[in-house]
Amino acid sequence: MVIAGIVAGGKGSRMGNTELPKQFMELCGKPVIIRTAQAFLDSAEVDNVIIGINPDWYGYMLELCDASGLKGIYVTKGGSDRNATVGNIISFAGSVLGASDDDIILTHDAVRPFVTPGMISDSIKALESCEICTVAVGATDTMIISEDGVSADEFPLRSRMFNVQTPQSFRIGSFRGIMASLSREEREAATDVCRLYKSRGYEVRLIPGSTSNIKLTYPSDMIFAEALLSGQQ
Ligand code: CTP
Repeated sequence: MVIAGIVAGGKGSRMGNTELPKQFMELCGKPVIIRTAQAFLDSAEVDNVIIGINPDWYGYMLELCDASGLKGIYVTKGGSDRNATVGNIISFAGSVLGASDDDIILTHDAVRPFVTPGMISDSIKALESCEICTVAVGATDTMIISEDGVSADEFPLRSRMFNVQTPQSFRIGSFRGIMASLSREEREAATDVCRLYKSRGYEVRLIPGSTSNIKLTYPSDMIFAEALLSGQQ
């Protein structure tokens, strides 16, 4: 079974839209989360779509699914951070859909509506020969490392730098195993699933992303996204 786990447990504070979290804001007349869910529903390779939603917005999400006529989406409650939301989605997949260790999950940010069929397909294919993969795109800007945010310490080569995007995909069994092996400190410090896999010795495979596959974070991203959609239409 291939599951799309759409993480939508956040509040979108950097977007500054206090009335409505960014995943519900409209892009060219359609809520972002509906666009994102549709991208996975449209894939013949994806069997089930599960959204992990901010618990305060659970009822709203169900209404939105009804109103938008989207069929075949499951909704569960998100957790206190992104990894916890992924964990809740996987628990739901196990208890409601009977998902087992060999099944694949593509975890995807609800606020990346420009995921493409190619990224979905390439991620699923990659898991035939690795345990985890993430969509990533070569960095456009030169990056520097600064310990204090005042002066630059290191100047890594841009050609070796990548921006991590989603989907990030893995088998459910390895995720369960890694999470169960974490100490409390490791669990609290764990912000990134790929880093966790790498720390346990797994290869983290890169799947070609796109500069269009943006994560809607700031108000200017919404303007860019609308322009992109208008261009596509
Ligand atoms: N996310 C989640 N559960 C959380 C926090 C975040 O599922 N407890 C999701 C967000 O909904 C989003 C994705 O993780 O789809 C990427 O996170 P980010 O862009 O940081 O979203 P927010 O946490 O909502 O944004 P902000 O940091 O500005 O509050």
